Amino acid sequence: MNKLKLLASISLLTLGLISQSSFASAGGSVQWNAEGGEKSVAMTLAPDRANGIEIYEVCSACHLLEGWGRKDGTFPQLAGQSREVLIKQLADIRALNRDNPTMYPFALPESIGDEQALADVTAYIATLPMNPDNGKGPWNSLFPEFAQGEKLYKDNCTQCHGEHGEGMPEKFYPRIEGQHYAYMLRQFEWIRDGKRRNANPDMVKQIKGFSNKDMQMVINWVSRVKVDPKDLAPSADWQNPDYE
Ligand code: HEC
Ligand code: HEC
Repeated sequence: MNKLKLLASISLLTLGLISQSSFASAGGSVQWNAEGGEKSVAMTLAPDRANGIEIYEVCSACHLLEGWGRKDGTFPQLAGQSREVLIKQLADIRALNRDNPTMYPFALPESIGDEQALADVTAYIATLPMNPDNGKGPWNSLFPEFAQGEKLYKDNCTQCHGEHGEGMPEKFYPRIEGQHYAYMLRQFEWIRDGKRRNANPDMVKQIKGFSNKDMQMVINWVSRVKVDPKDLAPSADWQNPDYE
């Protein structure tokens, strides 16, 4: 597919003209983070930055040129995420091991290329600075819900997502600090309720007793963690100079 056709179909998809239901039953249960497949190959390839920039233009239709996604959570922020996690998620989406009907056609080998494309675009994304103004939950530090969320986090999440949500790239545990509240809330709920098929089974176990309020409080806290300024863009008006 050429880029114009791709962009045209993106607008069709975002208008909801293409049915999402056809993807619902694809895939099946697979061992979490199994070795092999595109993920393992892409991890070994040397990335080509120029090609990464070209491919990312397609992604930017939804994730924006800055890689910041949208505060309302429709599209996640990709900037700041580790290459390992980006590669795993892309490979899972392509293998229909994580349902993402909106993005699926644009992530396919026919659209962007093989494992080399995964290596190129993820290496490029990993160089983008994060949005200094991510979407946050409703409770600032003056509310008791903030402290309760922090406690839930320390008791249930640090062993995988790290002290402040920085993630563990070598284990494919995502960074969640700085991510949009609404996106994380949706993912957390899907993981808890078994709707995200590539979810880590140990996370599912850890959070199965979480009420909706617990979930909101813990994600609220994560969304309000102060990200290290060296990983952030200088301002919320920053524009990606690679696409001038
Ligand atoms: C038509 C819109 C659209 C396009 C184009 C698109 N994405 Fe996405 N992407 C999404 C949506 C929506 C989600 C979140 C799906 C969900 O809620 O589970 C997502 C999720 C992701 C995730 C998972 C993020 C995470 O935190 O787990 C990655 C990685 C990603 N996209 C990378 C890309 C790349 C790379 C491209 C270009 C090749 C691309 N996307 C193109 C809509 C899009
Ligand atoms: C046993 C390890 C583990 C524990 C404990 C755990 N997680 Fe996760 N979490 C993961 C992994 C791994 C993923 C990514 C799953 C995948 O797609 O492979 C994930 C995904 C997520 C996501 C979605 C991120 C994205 O970019 O899509 C959120 C949000 C999240 N976790 C929040 C939490 C919170 C909050 C807690 C504590 C209440 C928690 N997790 C506990 C391992 C864990």
